[in-house]
Amino acid sequence: MKYIIYYDSAYHNLVEYEIGKFDVLGDGVGLLNQNEKEIIQDNNLLFQKVISLLNIRKKRLDIVDYLNASIFVRFFHKIDCECVQMNFDVLNKLFIKLDKKLKVAVRTVYGINAIDKNLTQEIASYIEGMGFKLDVKSPDIVLSIYVGDKIYYGLDSQKNLQSNYRAGAPHYSKGDEISRAEFKLLEALERYRIDLSSIHHAIDMGASPGGWTHALAKCGIEVSAVDPAELDAKVLEMPNVKHYKMSSQEFIKLPMPKFDMIINDMKMFGDKSAHIVCNCGNLLQKNAVLIMTIKLAEKNIYEQILRALTVLNTQFDIMSVKKLFHNRQEVTVYAKYRY
Ligand SMILES: C[S@@+](CC[C@H](N)C(=O)[O-])C[C@H]1O[C@@H](n2cnc3c(N)ncnc32)[C@H](O)[C@@H]1O
Repeated sequence: MKYIIYYDSAYHNLVEYEIGKFDVLGDGVGLLNQNEKEIIQDNNLLFQKVISLLNIRKKRLDIVDYLNASIFVRFFHKIDCECVQMNFDVLNKLFIKLDKKLKVAVRTVYGINAIDKNLTQEIASYIEGMGFKLDVKSPDIVLSIYVGDKIYYGLDSQKNLQSNYRAGAPHYSKGDEISRAEFKLLEALERYRIDLSSIHHAIDMGASPGGWTHALAKCGIEVSAVDPAELDAKVLEMPNVKHYKMSSQEFIKLPMPKFDMIINDMKMFGDKSAHIVCNCGNLLQKNAVLIMTIKLAEKNIYEQILRALTVLNTQFDIMSVKKLFHNRQEVTVYAKYRY
């Protein structure tokens, strides 16, 4: 099986480090053509260590698990057809067996060398002509297409894709957000499919100016926002936000009721940040959700990630770690408090 992968081109070497060699098709787009055996042999020790820390219980991982575990592959989809001009016969064969009640989205990415820049509408009309209903926002199945000097497309169910967006690149509309950082949390919540309806009390470590606090408070969650720096006035005014104008190290010594979520975007080395989070166990309920960024210095990125994850692993089950679309020099971890 072949896959189209999307990644931040600044991290190309790290993608290759994780999943082995692949062909570059465009800026941040690659073609992976490897079987399971090759992937496992190519795999390096540090990535294996990361995988061993992730909450993956399977003994043997297939290529999809590897791509899912990858920190630096942002999004991938399989290729059902690779052609130099649109091949509607293959498309027809893919759809003919499917239930006509399924809602379909067509998501196309055009590379700068795209052989055809107007395919989406033509394909969408063809699918409608077969009797399917198009639904961009909440599809059951997604036809993902990359157009470069060839056309590559594949059909997946939406629930198998890790993101609701083409190439895994969400663009949130600018509105009442407090900071750009707010989008990082929105993306993590969506990507990791975190249901906020069961969350009532959250700690936000490194909250200033208040983007993350704002995002949670808007959902009705009581947020204890911890940061020695100021919060935006709009956030301070929210009745369910309380600002603790102090360091997180000071905050975790305070007597507090238990929290069911902790978010942490503190600007400090990842392992130090992880230590602080691990020291607040007496404030957390079992299975409390953790979302945190690991800030990365330029060099030895893998070692930095591994050090932070190793610390977190003493207290938390690490569900996922990803360089998300809105992350710059950092990755975002999703974990659950084990005790
Ligand atoms: C990237 S900003 C956070 C942005 C925030 N998530 C938002 O959405 O607006 C990092 C913050 O970490 C805070 N910080 C650094 N060390 C800290 C510590 N020991 N305790 C609490 N906050 C800390 C800084 O004051 C800074 O405001």
